[in-house]
Amino acid sequence: MTVNIDTLLHESRRFPPTPEFAAETAATSELYTEAQKDPAAFWADQARNLLHWHKPFTKSLDWSNPPFAKWFEDGELNVAYNCLDRHVLAGNGDRVALYFEGEPGDSRSYTYAELTIEVKKAANVLLGLGVKAGERVAIYLPMIPEAVISMLAVARIGAVHSVIFGGFSAESLRSRIDDANAVLVITADGGYRKGKISALKPAVDAALQTNDSSVKNVLVVKRTGQDVQWNDRDIWWSDAMETASPEHEAEAFPAENPLFILYTSGTTGAPKGILHTSGGYLTQNAFTHQNVFDLKPETDVYWCTADVGWITGHSYVVYGPLANGATQVLYEGTPDSPHTGRWWEIIEKYKVSILYTAPTAIRTFMKLGRQIPQKFDLSSLRVLGSVGEPINPEAWMWYREVIGSNITPIVDTWWQTETGSIMVSALAGLTETKPGAAQVPVPGITIDVLDDDGLHVGHGNGGLLVVTQPWPAMLRGIWGDPERFKETYWDKFEGTTGAKDGPLYFAGDGARLDHDGDIWLLGRVDDVMNVSGHRLSTAEIESSLVAHSLTAEAAVVGAADETTGQAVVAFVVIKFSQAEIASHEDIVGILRKHVAQQIGAIARPRDIYIVDELPKTRSGKIMRRLLRDAAEGRDVGDVTTLADTMVMNTITSQMKK
Ligand code: WTA
Repeated sequence: MTVNIDTLLHESRRFPPTPEFAAETAATSELYTEAQKDPAAFWADQARNLLHWHKPFTKSLDWSNPPFAKWFEDGELNVAYNCLDRHVLAGNGDRVALYFEGEPGDSRSYTYAELTIEVKKAANVLLGLGVKAGERVAIYLPMIPEAVISMLAVARIGAVHSVIFGGFSAESLRSRIDDANAVLVITADGGYRKGKISALKPAVDAALQTNDSSVKNVLVVKRTGQDVQWNDRDIWWSDAMETASPEHEAEAFPAENPLFILYTSGTTGAPKGILHTSGGYLTQNAFTHQNVFDLKPETDVYWCTADVGWITGHSYVVYGPLANGATQVLYEGTPDSPHTGRWWEIIEKYKVSILYTAPTAIRTFMKLGRQIPQKFDLSSLRVLGSVGEPINPEAWMWYREVIGSNITPIVDTWWQTETGSIMVSALAGLTETKPGAAQVPVPGITIDVLDDDGLHVGHGNGGLLVVTQPWPAMLRGIWGDPERFKETYWDKFEGTTGAKDGPLYFAGDGARLDHDGDIWLLGRVDDVMNVSGHRLSTAEIESSLVAHSLTAEAAVVGAADETTGQAVVAFVVIKFSQAEIASHEDIVGILRKHVAQQIGAIARPRDIYIVDELPKTRSGKIMRRLLRDAAEGRDVGDVTTLADTMVMNTITSQMKK
């Protein structure tokens, strides 16, 4: 949702935590002062306090070869051990780690002791299949405990996971498996979504159809019991786990050992594999999860509604909460299945105290009306979080009043797949919050809003969001493409006055500083769209559309949408006269389906307009800005740079058809 810049500067509402809340929180303002003195030393303290190191590190940050950072380089740890064994050894084995709630209503829970055993067994299964440290394992699963177990088992043996969201198509799966040369895929027969069974295994079969794949085996979790095609390389998860030994000693790996690759959309065609490593990533996630949400592991029940297929699921379902020994809810399905009160029912059932979700969900609930959540007892909630896109003040207020009983702090957390952890956010027990603003960098993080010359914009002004110093959970690169890593994130401000003290990380987001110096996010400034908090690339959808034989040219824009933040809108020029082939509607239907098949249902355009021509400059560049105006129903902006100034008139008249 686009924030209205003029009104945000006048937001005067402030919500401090209640005195009782503030008195009980562990976070203090010293965190900021300590971090400011020496960020690298601050993070080293956090790493020592929050994690177990098999071999302690002596160096904190190595930034001698920017933009390639190394944190805690000579230290050694095991990420899974930190998330599991050490809690059991500390006497917390009986604490529930996961309360799993399946969409059809089945539920099971795992204590830390039980989860540790499952992960040890799964680690032995992987080793038995010949998976070695450093090799890649693709995970394509629904939101079930086996997804968490698989990720931790891969981490435990020092291998690298690449989780692919279950909504992605066979083709997307294939390109990610190939890019990372995965040796194993872990999947399920299917999962439950929106009250129906949705299949997963057929997409894996299709992705591995040709025999030139690097994948040697496919482990298949039985979730739905539906029929599946069976191949020589396939093994049932349950068979393998049944005979696996529950003994496995965690080996120590260097802090910079790769932990995972996660593909995300960029401005150009192919998704990029964002690489994260171990020690720094886990440190910042444990720290932010504890301090942003004021986590009290002994008493809180935490629930992050993100899917493990996205970074939020990696950092704030798996690694942050488990490193902190939290008790959490894992829910398989959609918010409205089998009824629109499902989420609130889950909160009531498990007495959830911390809820972390996305603005798009909040806006959907707002539309359905407050009478639905009001039927449930939500009094256990004490902290609410938001992530994925700007939260408009209206949704923020509704979230606080209706879900948070007008009392809970709301933390609006800004970060990205690339940043690995929360970067800008209030701390629930400390910060006076302001509806709609992400507010301040978390301790140890330095953020600025700059103009194109890399100069600070000053309070009351807008510009580009940058991170000015390396941080522990930062991406270590793009898998197999160091040049693209530099170009995408670090070249933007190179040579500018602002970058004289070192390279600046360009996030791709626009932001504004208000009169208090608080940060307001204004959305992407590049060709990345944000649909329901999911990142999609205009270029990727355009190339999918153009790959269809009907299409001559295509332009895709993200148009403002009340519920989903942005929606995919495509303008397509087709190759033949429309009348010759099919009806308008048929073409639109064919192309929508095509995109869903090629990329995944989340990328399916909301609207496709068939037009005669696209607006282009004299040098042939498509002017998406004008198409966005048209898609959002605004008057079309300045057309004077177009080769043909009439083309937008034709397009807007064709959109009415
Ligand atoms: C957007 C999701 C405003 C932003 C964690 C960013 C946000 C992109 C917020 C990253 C927020 C995320 N306020 N915008 N609190 N959180 N974004 O990689 O545009 O899926 O660049 O990571 O989401 O999306 P990603």
